[in-house]
Amino acid sequence: MHSEGTLLDKYGRRISYVRLSITDRCDFRCTYCMAEEMTFLPRKEVMSLEECLRIATVFVGLGVSKLRITGGEPLVRKGAMWLIERLGALPGLENLVLTTNGSQLEKFAAPLYAAGVKRINISLDTLKADRFRAITRIGDLAKVLRGIEAAGAAGFRRTKLNTVMMRGTNDDEFVDLVRFAIDRELDISFIEEMPLGEILGRNNTFISSEETREMLKPHFELIPSAENSGGPARYWRVPGSESRIGFISPHSHNFCDTCNRVRITAKGELYPCLGQNDATNLLPALRAGNDDAAVRQAIVDSMGIKPFGHDFTQQMDSPQVIRFMSMTGG
Ligand code: 5AD
Ligand code: SF4
Repeated sequence: MHSEGTLLDKYGRRISYVRLSITDRCDFRCTYCMAEEMTFLPRKEVMSLEECLRIATVFVGLGVSKLRITGGEPLVRKGAMWLIERLGALPGLENLVLTTNGSQLEKFAAPLYAAGVKRINISLDTLKADRFRAITRIGDLAKVLRGIEAAGAAGFRRTKLNTVMMRGTNDDEFVDLVRFAIDRELDISFIEEMPLGEILGRNNTFISSEETREMLKPHFELIPSAENSGGPARYWRVPGSESRIGFISPHSHNFCDTCNRVRITAKGELYPCLGQNDATNLLPALRAGNDDAAVRQAIVDSMGIKPFGHDFTQQMDSPQVIRFMSMTGG
């Protein structure tokens, strides 16, 4: 059923995009992502960088052309650049991209660009230093802003900012954030907060994409764009600017039928759907020996559990998915 070079799930969707988390650790503790005191995985449970490379290589052999490196914060993983340089040189991998909190970009933007990373996403929820500190618990906004600057100087174009929408926390800054993006020729996506992990008190902070669009409309002329990433994002443009304004609505179901992606956690679990708890552990196949055929088979078999769609509701106080975002890496 699975010909060389294609990975199809049981609904016939072709999987061409893998999101690979290389660490569950992070130098921030964003309130919507982590508990204040997090217990991280013991080192031996985390995939080695060689194992990450093997998994990626097998996926590319199965026709995957886009790979996103995520975390936690991927750039806090020791040796992250070793892996990224090898991934950048992997034939068949057309689109190597990275999601980061930006804290290390001053140092890594140039080597990332040189390694062949095509695009980066940087989380940015506020332009106010005190708020930034409150949201991330420990982050330094100035450092992240220097990181965004460094990405542009290194050659990255169309860098995308990711903003999690939180009522009463940053909803008075959406216009400023869009302006910040347009001024720097960046893209920006607004993300609806997702009920991941055991975090209480979310119900009253939820803001829908639609509400944010209404907020932006008096300030920007929003023109719907046909672009579609096969994911939960819808894009708009503003006349006279190249910046795209995206809205990521994980609560809406209308993208599941074109879903093209799977996620790999730092401990080698393959999650076919962000909104489901079902996973396949790839670690036994990886650690059974050096035979990639076993890894390949485990991946092909996992396609059988990719569900047709997810089932988030807006009952934000009871997490329907028990993993923290830092496990599955967005
Ligand atoms: N809901 C929505 N977005 C989240 N992120 C982390 N946790 C959540 C959540 N519960 C976002 C971060 C970052 C991306 C990796 O995921 O802000 O932009
Ligand atoms: Fe770290 Fe990103 Fe989670 Fe914030 S959202 S704690 S930056 S992984």
